[in-house]
Amino acid sequence: MSDRFTLIAPDDWHVHLRDGAMLENVVTHTARVFRRAIVMPNLSPPVITWAAAEAYRERILRALPSGEQFTPLMTAYLTDSTDPDDLEQGFKRGVFTAAKLYPANATTNSAAGVRDLDNIGAVLSCMQRIGMPLLIHGEVTDPDVDIFDREAEFINRHLRSLRQRFPELRVVFEHITTEQAVDYVGSADQGLAATITPHHLHINRNSMFSGGLRSDFYCLPVAKRERHRLALRRAATSGDPRFFLGTDSAPHSRAAKETSCGCAGIFNAPHALESYALVFDEEGAMDQLEGFASLHGPRFYGLPLNSTQVTLERRDHLVPEIINGLVPFHAADVLPWRVRSSC
Ligand code: NCD
Ligand code: ZN
Repeated sequence: MSDRFTLIAPDDWHVHLRDGAMLENVVTHTARVFRRAIVMPNLSPPVITWAAAEAYRERILRALPSGEQFTPLMTAYLTDSTDPDDLEQGFKRGVFTAAKLYPANATTNSAAGVRDLDNIGAVLSCMQRIGMPLLIHGEVTDPDVDIFDREAEFINRHLRSLRQRFPELRVVFEHITTEQAVDYVGSADQGLAATITPHHLHINRNSMFSGGLRSDFYCLPVAKRERHRLALRRAATSGDPRFFLGTDSAPHSRAAKETSCGCAGIFNAPHALESYALVFDEEGAMDQLEGFASLHGPRFYGLPLNSTQVTLERRDHLVPEIINGLVPFHAADVLPWRVRSSC
């Protein structure tokens, strides 16, 4: 195996860039490697209208180091009362690339999310008509359902019927964590795809409890059994165009992670491509990395491929324990690949 690997520059199809000081702290890590990113709208308050998304996009662009070639692709946060006209206008103006469905209270800043899919029927038919992708946090919120079963249950209770009602709607099942999701997406038609995070390819649920309570490995959807991690690794490295890169990098301050009610989210942006590269290398599938990282996503979204390239070099790199007050994924680990240059 060669010690260098060059690929078309990748995109991150699911990232949390936050706002204010945190935005300035994290956006450079994403922009270092990724040319575009789907930016999640779960700010406080959430990004609901196209005007709010346009203003947020401006703040992201202002936070970038000068000369950085990075395009934030904005998303709308769907609520029970989202106005389909505002959504359509935002999409047609090129402000919104997609809309995000958070079931109410499923995850961080989702209290204003959708309580019942029946409340957004008009919004979904509008999105289907105009070709605007729907990005789904696919977990049921029913407290009677075990947290490890919430994703699989979402497929059965909601996703199948939603896709029957809106067969032409383009859907991304975000950050999948189970073999049920892999099987469901893998057997679907072209209109359904899924993102896979680096952390769900590396850790299983034991990581959260290894030697104590490890809040750095707590995210939503929560990591599952080993069997599921292996199914995700097979899907990511399979070459199937329905699976593509979405880091779900979700930074929270140390204090917000280590408290009696710690936040869900893993900050993986500083070494995300290197983290995926390790997985593909371990699986003997480096030849599939470019498809997963740089080709499948743009093709699903109907966007051009990036015109620049990125080179990974086999070079041991110690991941810092903390980066600007945030604990990165792989903290204190040595990663064997490093991004060398963009050209
Ligand atoms: C995300 C966050 O912190 O915004 N957290 C996470 O654990 N992934 C929200 C989300 O994507 O669920
Ligand atoms: Zn997310």
